[in-house]
Amino acid sequence: MRRVTTISQLHRALDKLPGSIAFVPTMGFLHDGHLALMRHGLTRADHLVVSVFVNPTQFGPDEDLDAYPRDLDGDADKCRDVGCDIFFSPSRDEIYGDDHCTRINVDRLDSHLCGVDRPGHFQGVATIVTKLFNIIDPDVAVFGQKDRQQLAIIRRLVRDLNFAIDVDGVPTVREDDGLALSSRNRYLDDDQRRQATSLSRGLVAAHRAFDEDPQMSCARLLEAARAPVEDQPDARIDYAECVRPHSLTPCCPDEPVGEAGAIIAIAAHIGPARLIDNLRIDRPLPEGPLRSLP
Ligand code: PAJ
Repeated sequence: MRRVTTISQLHRALDKLPGSIAFVPTMGFLHDGHLALMRHGLTRADHLVVSVFVNPTQFGPDEDLDAYPRDLDGDADKCRDVGCDIFFSPSRDEIYGDDHCTRINVDRLDSHLCGVDRPGHFQGVATIVTKLFNIIDPDVAVFGQKDRQQLAIIRRLVRDLNFAIDVDGVPTVREDDGLALSSRNRYLDDDQRRQATSLSRGLVAAHRAFDEDPQMSCARLLEAARAPVEDQPDARIDYAECVRPHSLTPCCPDEPVGEAGAIIAIAAHIGPARLIDNLRIDRPLPEGPLRSLP
């Protein structure tokens, strides 16, 4: 594995790799969710490039940019073990310099769900991902379904800006108790860590409610999803929404999910951490921990 920090080093390393490239962008502090994306990437192309860059433009002024956990050497070791070819960890200056003034907006898709509480966040994500796509020029880019809105925005960006890149979405990797892996889980103490499982428990409760009665209104499914989270002393829900699978437009609250299907997406502050999770409710529960929740 080549470890590079500048764009010119990266291009020299890429020149030595004939064949197709899969790309996994990350902000580091890598966990098994990130590694699942990388393993998927390796099945889709000859070579794998992973970037680690804590992108300042996607953090709001009161968010955790400075506290965001970092472990560059540990990340490089994990990438090497998985079979990554190039590990790209640029500095902030290498990416933005001091006079960067271009931003990418993906209108509409960024205006609800996480876009409400995190204004400017998806503009920052779309800008950095566009830049990384231009720098790396991959054939396939791999993202997690855990960040559904991000995935939908990247898919639209690739379509609208005519990138010749396949965007693959990989299912959410979870702890045994259902909690979606996230670099931000490390902000939780033991008690908050237990409370955090309420997000996935709520999603499974909504899934079961839908299984029992597919005619149940979206509003009632959302009540089922919210209830376990509302029970937690340190939890504050940002949103719980029932949305269409690809467009992520809200379903009508008084109506059942219907043919088009739905995802329930939830975001909540648990103590110091803002956590998100989501689940497609009109499909069987994915293999793994969600199936064995009580
Ligand atoms: P980061 O939070 O590091 O996540 C990098 C990728 O890992 C994203 O595609 C995310 O959806 C995926 N991921 C995170 N947790 C996962 C889990 N438990 N299971 C499966 N995939 C998971 O998302 C970002 O960084 C940034 O916004 C980025 C796209 C790198 C742009 O800066």
